[in-house]
Amino acid sequence: MFENSRLLIDSSNPPEPGQVIWRSPSNLAIIKYWGKYGRQLPRNPSLSLTLASSCTDTSLEYAFKEEPDNQIDLDFFFHGEENDAFRAKTLAFLESLTPHFPFLRQLQLTIQTGNSFPHSTGIASSASSMSSLALCLCSLEDALFGTLQDGADFDRKASYIARLGSGSACRSIFPHAAVWGATPAVPGSSDEFAVPAAGLLHPAFKDFHDDILIVSTEEKAVSSRAGHALMEGNPYAEPRYAQAKARLSSLVQALQEGDLETFGKIAEDEALALHALMMCSNPSYLLMQPNTIELLHKIRAYRAETKHPVYFSLDAGPNIHLLYPGELVSDIRGWIEEDLKEHCVDGWFIHDWVGEGPEEL
Ligand code: PMV
Repeated sequence: MFENSRLLIDSSNPPEPGQVIWRSPSNLAIIKYWGKYGRQLPRNPSLSLTLASSCTDTSLEYAFKEEPDNQIDLDFFFHGEENDAFRAKTLAFLESLTPHFPFLRQLQLTIQTGNSFPHSTGIASSASSMSSLALCLCSLEDALFGTLQDGADFDRKASYIARLGSGSACRSIFPHAAVWGATPAVPGSSDEFAVPAAGLLHPAFKDFHDDILIVSTEEKAVSSRAGHALMEGNPYAEPRYAQAKARLSSLVQALQEGDLETFGKIAEDEALALHALMMCSNPSYLLMQPNTIELLHKIRAYRAETKHPVYFSLDAGPNIHLLYPGELVSDIRGWIEEDLKEHCVDGWFIHDWVGEGPEEL
């Protein structure tokens, strides 16, 4: 899909050097993608909220190579510094994309990238970084060939390419919310790319907040890549995929109706199911820390006491996503300062919220 061997620059009419820049956000899955096959294809559909403040800026500069060769020439800077490990990974990814972007071998490329949040913090940046890179590549294709003029085509290819880099990244392309994985609950949904889901959201969810409580900044003992692979031998894998499919349909209904309680129940059940799957893998592993558990109890106790619709989610790590409607911002911020911050590493948390999606700079 999206392979096109005709996307080659005519050397008798080379382009001027140029640059494209994208800012792309991270996203939080409410229905989790956990388990994959083939080339980053999901075992179950997932649904995410697109975030706003946790994002990656990527600039891609290009110049036509006067002396043709058969390799991709890449200079790579992360937060202004050369980074050999990231360069090697990015180069391998770009090599794998030459059937989609054959012109990459004809250009000298410079990528400069950086996150809005400090790096090596235990906050996954693959969704924002891979989506921003995919958007740059699609903008580059469009600048050179004018082939992605239609916004929907552009987004679909960007989502498809982002998926090849990191599965969950394909959902970051769209504002507010996205669905990835074929499901009868969302017409037009696909395993190959995500589709926009803002239209499914009751206005209550467009103003949702997601404050990220940083419990640990250490590198995870088991990567997401290894975690997905362990699902292959997990005895609960099949029931889990069925559960995710059914929950996605219930979540779509709750999102449409503005049903915060059902939304919150599904969000928490999904987060705990994700971690339960890790505990039931062979070998088993545990990414939650004592402070994660402490905070989960506090969140449930606060909800019981105040009746405020505040819920948690977890990614594949110990940090907590605190989900609540915008009207509660001042209450929740006060509560974080007073009661939750002490369980965060260096008192650290990140304010985030449902956002408008990527932006070309
Ligand atoms: O995109 P990956 O391969 O890093 O996997 C992400 C998996 C979760 O973040 C745990 C869930 C999800 O759907 O984003």
